[in-house]
Amino acid sequence: MVPFKQLKISSGLILLVIILSSCQMGRSNYMSEEQREQLQVAYDSLESNYKMLLANYEGTTDTLPSDLQSLYSQMQRMHSDMDVSHRQMMAGNMGRHMEGNKMMRQGMGIHMQGHMTGEWYSQMMGMHEQMARMHQRMGQQNMARMNRRLSEEYGKMRKMIPDLDEPSEIPFNEEGDPALLNGENLFSQNCASCHGSNAEGIGNGFPPLVDSEWLTGDKSTPIRILLHGLQGEIEVQGQTYQGIMPSFKARLSAAEIASILNYLRAQNQGEYPAITQDDVMQVSKNYSERTRPWTASELQQTTDE
Ligand code: HEC
Repeated sequence: MVPFKQLKISSGLILLVIILSSCQMGRSNYMSEEQREQLQVAYDSLESNYKMLLANYEGTTDTLPSDLQSLYSQMQRMHSDMDVSHRQMMAGNMGRHMEGNKMMRQGMGIHMQGHMTGEWYSQMMGMHEQMARMHQRMGQQNMARMNRRLSEEYGKMRKMIPDLDEPSEIPFNEEGDPALLNGENLFSQNCASCHGSNAEGIGNGFPPLVDSEWLTGDKSTPIRILLHGLQGEIEVQGQTYQGIMPSFKARLSAAEIASILNYLRAQNQGEYPAITQDDVMQVSKNYSERTRPWTASELQQTTDE
């Protein structure tokens, strides 16, 4: 007979071991310790390059045009948001982004956090690439090089995230009526950093979302841009842009995408039919295998209507 007290202690210990090992399993399910370590090394290198860029920027701020200065402050803000997402992914917790979302209850949490962080990386990648081009045009090779290096480092980190290319379902929010969401707020939180607070674009890096046929044409075009992103040359209001627009599939729900697009369509001249959550779900189903960002010419060649 094992004495009762001893039994209690040993079952307590067993329970502790089970809890600890299941935590460990939860983590390694998504990324192995080795992958985690590699990502951390890459991230540390990125952070030191980022600090160097900022130090250089601070020395030259006065000589830069205002659109580039505003990009630097947007970029700093985006960098700290991305950092939060990165830390949450590394710690293996879901963080605040998906609170109360169905996805979390379905146990897809950590995987989704990985997707979201990966999208932050590509967003930052596009941002630095854009800034590199602007410095290059001004003949500032050194600043261009530093930005390009950061862009490459983000690109590498993005590739280190497992299964990022696997198509994922867009979060569907059962109670999510786009008309009850605040499209203007969602726009400021998710789009204004690149497209400007009035959606008028920023410099020659980021196109305007007013007077844009990409928004006011058939519904599927802007939905596809938000679901999968956009890359390569695009013409808006007669001006050519070439940059990277990240995908929002893992960061916004179908209702949120519809709400932002309806808000933006209302900022354009003319009347356009409202986009519903079902429209977004339908387009997401039609292109469920898509993992690459669209190019402007692909969008022009195919429509759903
Ligand atoms: C990290 C910067 C960034 C963010 C954030 C961003 N975009 Fe973009 N967006 C771009 C870039 C760069 C392009 C041009 C891409 C190209 O050159 O192919 C673009 C292009 C577009 C276009 C097509 C061109 C046009 O001007 O109409 C639409 C529509 C669009 N974005 C909507 C949005 C919406 C809506 C959001 C927020 C949910 C958003 N974008 C967030 C960078 C961004």
